[in-house]
Amino acid sequence: MRFERLRIQGLRCLTDVAVELGEGIHVFVGPNGAGKTSVLEAAYLLSHGRSFRSGAREALVQRGSPSLAVFAELRSTDDARRRLGLGRNGPRWEARVDGVDVPLGVLVQACAVVCFEPGSHELIAGAAEQRRRFLDWGVFHVEHGFIGAWRRYQRALKQRNALLRTGAAGPDELYAPWEHELGETGAAIDAYRRAYLDRLSPVLAASAGFLLPELGSVALRYRRGWADDRDLAGVLAEQRGRDLARGHTTMGAHRADWSLAFEHAPLREHLSRGQEKLTALSCLLAQAELHAERRGEWPIVCLDDLASELDLAHQAAVVERLAAVGAQVLVTGTECPVPLQPRPHRMFHVEQGQIRPLL
Ligand SMILES: Nc1ncnc2c1ncn2[C@@H]1O[C@H](COP(=O)(O)OP(=O)(O)OP(=O)(O)O)[C@@H](O)[C@H]1O
Ligand SMILES: [Mg+2]
Repeated sequence: MRFERLRIQGLRCLTDVAVELGEGIHVFVGPNGAGKTSVLEAAYLLSHGRSFRSGAREALVQRGSPSLAVFAELRSTDDARRRLGLGRNGPRWEARVDGVDVPLGVLVQACAVVCFEPGSHELIAGAAEQRRRFLDWGVFHVEHGFIGAWRRYQRALKQRNALLRTGAAGPDELYAPWEHELGETGAAIDAYRRAYLDRLSPVLAASAGFLLPELGSVALRYRRGWADDRDLAGVLAEQRGRDLARGHTTMGAHRADWSLAFEHAPLREHLSRGQEKLTALSCLLAQAELHAERRGEWPIVCLDDLASELDLAHQAAVVERLAAVGAQVLVTGTECPVPLQPRPHRMFHVEQGQIRPLL
């Protein structure tokens, strides 16, 4: 899929800009603080409902602006065109597909953007939440039943946590229905995640082998968040005392995590910062490729500050790979990355929140 047009209003320093995009690689160049990353944030926002940068969503809204809006015309491989919109007016986020108000999930489902950026190493070195988010985004885009189970799980978790916060053990009838619901939906979420990771694993082995051949083979380990041989509802009933002391539910699908172990770097701590980045990029590319296998088209790939994140050989390898599969790619940098200089692509100059096509 690809964006044909992207219009951004009131996002950070971008007051009101529009860019026409084509196939293949696009490069956004300009000085620090010009608004390059903000363009990628706008694209990512449509497919995730949040930014890849940490911090409050409110920080995205331009200071002094009452609202933020991102519109895109999205073209799919089957030639279908869709108009996407996401806006924030006051405290509310509103999503639209083809002029119709839709829940955020419907918008996010329609659009797939993966982004490699200076914070991407957190996928490997950071908290489990990031890895769960990565995993769930992938599952969500290929398994339609996932979102229903996930919502039911979140609702039940909230209810159980509210009970725990009262600090009172309470009668079994208060907890049991929510624990039953968590058990049922937790098992479904676990099955979806497991099936997804089983498919992702060989694709990831290939992309890690491509970017990090020196580290040898890679194994993906998944932990579902509670003992493998136990039913979650039973575990929760048993853990009530401990959870009451902590004030929240300490086991379940919301505690799942996964990790990678390389033959020549079995622990995360064995990786250099650059290798963490390349591992994260391998994961993102694998996710994009699996998405393409399942949905028939590559997601849009954003590479923020490519030249400052990777050495020349790896920049060239990634660009080569993405060009070969025909993905739409949005790259940013203070300069055009060296491996992109000789090839034909579209280039834009970004300065003080203004975007001007150069090629
Ligand atoms: N809520 C906001 N309202 C207005 N301006 C903002 C807001 N948040 C950030 N900015 C400004 O918008 C710009 C954002 O720039 P962005 O991060 O997109 O720059 P960049 O071109 O990627 O720069 P770099 O090369 O340093 O990565 C910065 O100048 C920043 O100070
Ligand atoms: Mg930037």
